[in-house]
Amino acid sequence: MTIFITGVAGFIGFSLAKRLLGEGKQVVGIDNLNDYYDPTLKQARLDELAKLGGNFAFHKTDLADASSLTALMLSTKPSVVLHVGAQASVRYGLTNQVAYLNSNLIGHFNILAACKALQEQEGCLAHLLYASSSSVYGGNAKPGEDTKAFCETDNVMEPQSLYAATKLADEAMTEAWCHQFKGSKGWFPASGLRFFTVYGPWGRPDMSPVLFASAMLDGRAIPLFNGGDLWRDFTYIDDIVEAVVRLMDTPPARGHEVYNLGNQNPVRMDEFVQVLGNVLGKQPLVDAKPWPPTEVYKTFADTRKLHAAIGWAPATPLQDGLQRFADWYVAWHGKFKV
Ligand SMILES: NC(=O)c1ccc[n+]([C@@H]2O[C@H](COP(=O)([O-])OP(=O)(O)OC[C@H]3O[C@@H](n4cnc5c(N)ncnc54)[C@H](O)[C@@H]3O)[C@@H](O)[C@H]2O)c1
Repeated sequence: MTIFITGVAGFIGFSLAKRLLGEGKQVVGIDNLNDYYDPTLKQARLDELAKLGGNFAFHKTDLADASSLTALMLSTKPSVVLHVGAQASVRYGLTNQVAYLNSNLIGHFNILAACKALQEQEGCLAHLLYASSSSVYGGNAKPGEDTKAFCETDNVMEPQSLYAATKLADEAMTEAWCHQFKGSKGWFPASGLRFFTVYGPWGRPDMSPVLFASAMLDGRAIPLFNGGDLWRDFTYIDDIVEAVVRLMDTPPARGHEVYNLGNQNPVRMDEFVQVLGNVLGKQPLVDAKPWPPTEVYKTFADTRKLHAAIGWAPATPLQDGLQRFADWYVAWHGKFKV
């Protein structure tokens, strides 16, 4: 069984590849190794995967390069495509819009087209799973209206960032694609994955766990928006990987579904910082910042739909997940000062 993973040098792509290689699967991974964050970390993840034996093949390929993408899929004949390569981050989109158009819109379209060509010519594709984001819920939650978990049936027509708009567009494109090609030879089922703030070892240096841990280890103050009164549904990476691996074998009967992948248990950011300080053995210094317009007040997931599909529930308590994250990060920070 061959699994094709885009963004394999990224946090989630790497973690999926590691798990699947451990199970003896063949993994073909692509990434353009861009410098949105330090490519040293991306290369180190690839080096880790290379250590896991000969079942891993890496190709430096850009999602915007349609012909290379299609040729690679046709030659490797994957039965599952895990498309988690993208321009991530909400804030970067304030100044670098074109990256989102190339990677998230053209790139996503190219994946759909390559999967169709694969299915038409080889008939081997059982399921496409692609990364969406909790940010599609956008302006749904405001202070005072914070007791409701986000559900897949909620309104998502209020994206608050270009990043969220591209993820929403990917979902819409996939829904239309599955509809218009239903019954044709190139049709395949697809699942969209709305991730809610994923953390863990090998995590992204632009996300709060690494930013906060780095500040604590260097004795800098931690900028906390809205005095720490923002809520996030931190989901441990192994729980995410478990959900994706189970979902791989469960293509949606309707053709296309989107699922929340979150923890259903939001944490206030100031509490999160305290727990992180405890596992790092540091007393955090806090620098209170105003609430920027790109940040949603509270995100947390209603995961009943995913539970009904695959019987999944997140299993890792924040304290345990952060301890494992800290064990990795202290070693990494000591080596690379990132
Ligand atoms: N980590 C989270 O908490 C989180 C939350 C919501 C959604 N997501 C989504 O999950 C997916 C994976 O996120 P991640 O945290 O692993 O991010 P990441 O940035 O670590 O990984 C994405 C990878 O995609 C690669 N990439 C970007 N543009 C590319 C292109 N044009 N061609 C080829 N490769 C390209 C990058 O080099 C990177 O290695 C993304 O789609 C992201 O938007 C992540």
